[in-house]
This record gives sequence, C-alpha cells and structure tokens, in this order.
Amino acid sequence: MRILMIGDVIGKPGRRAIQSIVPSLRQEHGIDLVIANGENTAGGFGLTMETAYELLDHGVDVLTSGNHIWDQKEIIPYMDKGPEEGLPLIRPANYPDAPGRGVLIHQDVMVVNLMGRVFMPPLDCPFRASDKILADARASDAPAVIIVDFHAEATSEKQAMGWYLDGRVSAVVGTHTHVGTVDKRVLPQGTAYITDVGMTGPLDSVIASEVGPVMERFLTGMPQRLTVATGPVIMNSVLIDVDKESGKALTIERLDKVIS
Ligand SMILES: [Fe+2]
Ligand SMILES: [Fe+2]
Repeated sequence: MRILMIGDVIGKPGRRAIQSIVPSLRQEHGIDLVIANGENTAGGFGLTMETAYELLDHGVDVLTSGNHIWDQKEIIPYMDKGPEEGLPLIRPANYPDAPGRGVLIHQDVMVVNLMGRVFMPPLDCPFRASDKILADARASDAPAVIIVDFHAEATSEKQAMGWYLDGRVSAVVGTHTHVGTVDKRVLPQGTAYITDVGMTGPLDSVIASEVGPVMERFLTGMPQRLTVATGPVIMNSVLIDVDKESGKALTIERLDKVIS
C-alpha cells in the first residue's frame, strides 16, 4: 500500500500546488491514500470548509492539522462529523477537551494527529496519548496500517516520538516547522520516520510568509502583519510504502516538486 503525506499546505499558493500536482501524481505513482496537513490552508491561518474542499476535491483524502486549527472558527462545528458526513479532518488528539477528533480511519488506514509540547501550547502528553490511542485501536480491531502526523517544533521531541512508536505504527511523520528534513528512514522495528516533511507553499519566503515583514519583525522587534508570499511554490511530501497485513513500513522517500 502506497501513502503520500504532504506537509502543511499554505494559503492560496499551497492550494494551487495541490491542484496542479496531486491528481497526476496519484496516477503516476499508484498512490492509494493522500494525507495533507491543512492547518494553514486558509490564508496561512486555519482552514475553512471552502479551502478544505479545494484540497479534498483534488486528490487529498484526509486532512490533519495542528496549533492553527482553531484560527477559522467556522470550521469548528463541522469537526465532530465523521467522513460519512463529509469532513475527513482531524486535530491533535492530545488537546484535553476540544471539539473534533484526533483519530480517523479511512480506507483501511488509521490516521492519528498528535502535537508536541516543546515551544508549543501546553497540551496533554502526546506520548501517553499515543499509548491510549493504540490500546483502544487494539481493542477495537482497527487497521494494521497507522500513520501518525506529529505536529511539533523540537527535533528532539519528534525523534523521541519516532523511537517511542517504532514497531507500533507504520509511520511517524513530523510537520509544523515548514522546513523539510533529510533524515527519512525506516526505524529497526518497521516504522517509517521523518522529523519534518516541510510545507506546500511559496519558495521565496520565510516559512511561507512574505520576507519583508518578517525581516522587519526581526530587525525592530515590533509586531508585523504577516502575509503569505507569492511566486514559485514547492510541494514537500513523503511517499511511504507499507505492508498492508503487518502494518510495517517498507520504504519512505522524499518527493518534492516545484511549480512556477
Ligand atoms: Fe504550519
Ligand atoms: Fe503548526
């Protein structure tokens, strides 16, 4: 089984890249399931129903998210609805008592969203949250293939999660920093791992924002209104091959594409 995981999709440039790249990529690589982190889909902050469906109608099957999930309030009432009601969107499972779900099963794959706690809002422990999710999954005869989007800032916390879940899930894929890392590998017990997939957003930017205002913020220390940059767009993703019976990962490869 072949799964594509796409890094944080940023605003209109990100949506445009998904629409122009993903449908043909699915065909070309025989991809069974596409997961994308959608936390920055609407103007860089959160996602709306309209922007979510711009991805879901163009080859994305499941949306994960992160700390920006609450930025567009209009999506919140739809977050408790399952795929049968139309919105395959999850938020980090370790939010203590929030609307929505942190786990979703789609086409024989269990997708889990967790968020780190280092340099991030203080949530429940993501490690213990993963234990509970996996115990519940075992008890309910959930699919063998389990993909975890670990939305976190610190590389150490992400690597620790990779080792913590090695052999227990098919993949631990990092998101949030918007900068892809080169450490993709299959860990010894069969879990595909990468610290960060990266983003789907404007190349000439500071983590997708227009350079000028970010520079001004650093030079003066004063707040600046940040906008999504323009120009060529990069789509950062990883392609993961998984044995459907055992749930073990076979390979993980980076797949990065630029459109003008
Ligand atoms: Fe993001
Ligand atoms: Fe984030």
